[in-house]
Amino acid sequence: MKIIRCKSDLRQLTDAWTRAGEIIGVVPTMGALHAGHLSLVTTAKAQCNRVIVTLFVNPRQFTNPEDLANYPRTEDSDAVKLAPFNVDVLYIPDPSEMYPAGFATSISVSGVSAGLCGGARPGHFDGVTTVVAKLLLQTAGDAAFFGEKDFQQLQVVKRLALDLDLKTKIIGCPTIREDDGLAMSSRNLRLGEAARKLAPQVYVELSQTAAAIEQGASVPQELARASAALSAAGFGPIDYLELRSAANLAPLTHPDQPARLFVAAWLDGVRLIDNVAVG
Ligand code: PAF
Repeated sequence: MKIIRCKSDLRQLTDAWTRAGEIIGVVPTMGALHAGHLSLVTTAKAQCNRVIVTLFVNPRQFTNPEDLANYPRTEDSDAVKLAPFNVDVLYIPDPSEMYPAGFATSISVSGVSAGLCGGARPGHFDGVTTVVAKLLLQTAGDAAFFGEKDFQQLQVVKRLALDLDLKTKIIGCPTIREDDGLAMSSRNLRLGEAARKLAPQVYVELSQTAAAIEQGASVPQELARASAALSAAGFGPIDYLELRSAANLAPLTHPDQPARLFVAAWLDGVRLIDNVAVG
């Protein structure tokens, strides 16, 4: 696995691969790799001739400077974790490579970015779409792999690729969970011992609420019940707990189409997000 930090070095490789007709897969990450990321790498390896993992803690998608400062940075151990996967390149651009002096462009996707994390973290998705567009262009990716844990991000990136005629096919992959159900996330590393024990309750509540809605329970009543249960268990604040269309993320009060239940809840100063399918 080559570690590349400079986009012109990366371009030399990807140009040669493209000329040879090879399919390039990209797994964009912010590092602190866990089994969720590694499952994306496995899927990319199965579908593509070449795989590039990108590692860039993107300052533009953080709405809170403290969150950016606290984001785990584990470059060396990330490289060790990737070693068995025969990835071709680990691309670790410098912030100055990504956002050189004078950088003045921001990409904004409307519609699917409204509400949920877009509402709770204004500007977050503009940061995501701007960096993802750059990474997909820099890597010349034919396919890019994103986890469904960030389901709204996945829909936003799909819209971005479609609207900007990017050649990259955006592929969503299932959420990977710990044995106790907690969705894998780099942020889990910041949970204290007691909070880590409590954290799987998010998935428990989501699953129970999804099952109740599928069995015909009132959506507003179920959401209120689950929200109260999470607060009583020690979560707070709860940024959102909502049922939305799986296709376009429109808010739903009846599960009359394939839907997803979304939650973002704080615990021990850490913002946990998760979602499950309904119907
Ligand atoms: O999901 C993430 O880790 C980030 O939002 C991404 C897609 C790598 C963009 O910085």
